[in-house]
Amino acid sequence: MKSVIFIAPPAAGKGTQSSNLVDLGYTHISTGDMLREEIAKESEIGLVVKDIISKGMLVSDEIVFELINNKLSNLDKPFILDGFPRTIKQAELLDNLLNKLDINNYEVIYLDINSEDAMKRALGRLTCNKCGASFNKYYEALQPIQEGICDNCGNTLVTRTDDNEESFKVRFNTFIENTEPIIEFYKSKNKLHNVDATMDSFDITNKIKDILKWLVLKVIEK
Ligand code: AP5
Ligand code: MG
Repeated sequence: MKSVIFIAPPAAGKGTQSSNLVDLGYTHISTGDMLREEIAKESEIGLVVKDIISKGMLVSDEIVFELINNKLSNLDKPFILDGFPRTIKQAELLDNLLNKLDINNYEVIYLDINSEDAMKRALGRLTCNKCGASFNKYYEALQPIQEGICDNCGNTLVTRTDDNEESFKVRFNTFIENTEPIIEFYKSKNKLHNVDATMDSFDITNKIKDILKWLVLKVIEK
């Protein structure tokens, strides 16, 4: 099974798609989730990154790469990378690491969404800090059954500190300046697949599954 790397603007649906695919046997690796865990633990890293994340800016390449290196170096399953790489430097570091680990069986999915739709998703998002589930007050199908309560574990839902208009705009601009150039990086490696992320969540998942299946069939045909 092919590993997946998601490249996408903020709130495009990386986490949602990762949750929809994880049962196929993937390990989900989200740098955002890992950093938020460090903040919750009040670890040394957490104290350094807390304000940076609230403002919507990028954490240093060194900090996130250390987290990724530890995870990928100890994996025995295909992975989904959600939120890494986000800069050309990170893409190069990842490339070197995957070469070292002899991993080439992966594809890059670009979840394409405009700023307006993504902002609506970010401002409507409600997350569960206990089990990580995500809901959205602006989309009927994504609303929790009981207002403000997680369907999965009953915990109180919260709004992320970076889900406000000001931070969202910084995050989206940061994506355009720092992350969009990575698209060319993976295009030149023949790894990039564009998916319209404005569709319904399960239509997007099916589209991603189709891409991954089609690639497997292509290999078998050879
Ligand atoms: P991170 O947590 O990765 O945030 P992000 O990139 O801004 O992405 P989000 O988690 O906001 O959105 P998502 O794409 O996962 O969307 P979701 O599925 O939740 O990173 C946070 C911060 O950490 C960064 O800003 C940075 O500071 C730091 N960081 C992380 N990685 C880093 C790195 N590599 N380098 C440096 N710094 C790093 O969906 C969003 C909402 O929309 C939800 O409510 C969901 O229910 C809803 N939704 C999902 N799909 C649909 C759909 N199809 N239709 C309608 N609604 C939908
Ligand atoms: Mg996410």
